[in-house]
Amino acid sequence: MIKRNDDITASVAEFDAWPFEEEHRRIIENRKSGTNLTWSEVNNMPYTAKVISETLRRATILPCFSRKASQDFEINGYKVRKGWSINLDVVSIHHDPEVFSNPEKFDPSRFDEPLRPFSFLGFGSGPRMCPRMNLAKLEICVFIYHLINKYTLLIMESTSSGRQIMLG
Ligand code: HEM
Repeated sequence: MIKRNDDITASVAEFDAWPFEEEHRRIIENRKSGTNLTWSEVNNMPYTAKVISETLRRATILPCFSRKASQDFEINGYKVRKGWSINLDVVSIHHDPEVFSNPEKFDPSRFDEPLRPFSFLGFGSGPRMCPRMNLAKLEICVFIYHLINKYTLLIMESTSSGRQIMLG
């Protein structure tokens, strides 16, 4: 049983999981031979990729990171001197309604269209972005594939201690 009572769990539990489960079940149905997940199957999980991104937007693993100014510059009237540390508040960017409408809603379809540059920073951006992003995504896809195909997710009644998800 998975038991959490924070907002993100509730938000994820309310999203329409049907296309998500369907994508993973279809992989097995369409398989011509063998029983193991293949490289091309992992690379053909478009909806899962969006669910991963949306999860990282809502529950950002690295909530803020910093950069050091390599030269003096000015942005929006603020003068920044060479050598200063600039801290990026990723959680605020991910929850800014001007960047992501209705930001508290868990909605993987946000990633249907290309986003504004530097708006999604789940793996960072630029030359220092996560060098193992693809490995991490691969591992998550493999985990989700087994979770969906070997278990049934049952959302239980909300209790005073929060929403619970049962693995059946
Ligand atoms: C869900 C899994 C992961 C997430 C969300 C994640 C996220 C991030 C983020 C946000 C950064 C900072 C990027 C920036 O400053 O612009 C980062 C850096 C980094 N990540 Fe990951 N990461 C994940 C998995 C991994 C894995 C599996 C590895 C290694 C096997 C890894 C290795 C690194 C390294 C070495 C850096 C530092 C890169 C640098 O400073 O040049 N990450 N990651």
